[in-house]
Amino acid sequence: ATLRNILEKMPKAELHIHIEGSLEPELIFALARRNGVALPYASVDALRSAYAFTDLQSFLDIYYAGASVLLAEEDFYDMTMAYLQRANNDNVRHVELFFDPQTHTSRGVAFATVVNGIHRAVQDAREKWGMTGALIMCFLRHLSEEEAFATLEAALPYRDKLIGVGLDSSERGHPPEKFARVFARCKGLGLHLVAHAGEEGPPAYITTALDDLHAERIDHGVACMQDPALVQRLVRQQTPLTVCPLSNLKLCVFKRLQDHNLLALLEAGIVATVNSDDPAYFGGYINDNFIAAFEALPLTREHARRLARNSFSAAFLAPEDKARRL
Ligand code: HPA
Ligand code: ZN
Repeated sequence: ATLRNILEKMPKAELHIHIEGSLEPELIFALARRNGVALPYASVDALRSAYAFTDLQSFLDIYYAGASVLLAEEDFYDMTMAYLQRANNDNVRHVELFFDPQTHTSRGVAFATVVNGIHRAVQDAREKWGMTGALIMCFLRHLSEEEAFATLEAALPYRDKLIGVGLDSSERGHPPEKFARVFARCKGLGLHLVAHAGEEGPPAYITTALDDLHAERIDHGVACMQDPALVQRLVRQQTPLTVCPLSNLKLCVFKRLQDHNLLALLEAGIVATVNSDDPAYFGGYINDNFIAAFEALPLTREHARRLARNSFSAAFLAPEDKARRL
């Protein structure tokens, strides 16, 4: 088999996908029509041509605008099912997906509408394909601690539908420690803890995500290479990083994919995984990320096997499910 074939066929878990970032321009327009929402773009092509990002914030502005077409539970279901269908085609056997309730509740959409629509699609994917899935609720870090606590309060009746919480949105100027008390409360609820850190922010944010939030996984985390002691710590603790190559390329974290540090992370002994982040915006789903990274870097079949294995070992799967996948 060719390396490409191995990458496509190997069973894998996806651990870093923002479900709102899977909303394709065609679906944005279809939902806008269905819901009578006006869009500031004349066509699918006009919207797609706005996808020229210079940094994280330039992406987030368009990403939040795209999410404005989501109003009814069916919209959240359709979006999630479209992603899960593609994930199944990419041989994803387990997914832990992020969602951003504050993006929706701030527009008057009920928390229940969001979580029920996404959760029902995940259940249907399990019945249809045997794909396991879980939801990670993210707090928007550009908003206040108080708003994060209010979001957690709204989530309490749905505690059983969540496997964990995360932290996303504008990184610079919003260090993890801003949410230390919120995360402490989440830990008390038995939720798993992850946080975006070291995407375009400094390695110090990875350190405080570990020390102050007690994050079990770091999303992105590619900035760790600037701090050798931090790399050693991540290796020693076997803290996984959910790396997103095409996202890093499109948001100019690395100028070229050839400059990406995925291989260096693996060679250092870090539990790195490959993920799509916001596939509708960054030019590809998980297999596209694997193929692009393996084309740009001297990665081998052994690395492919390691990345697939890491994706399951880093997952919040029950021990018996993990043993079955590994
Ligand atoms: N970083 C931070 N926030 C996000 C991202 C990301 O890559 N994608 C969606 N929200
Ligand atoms: Zn992300």
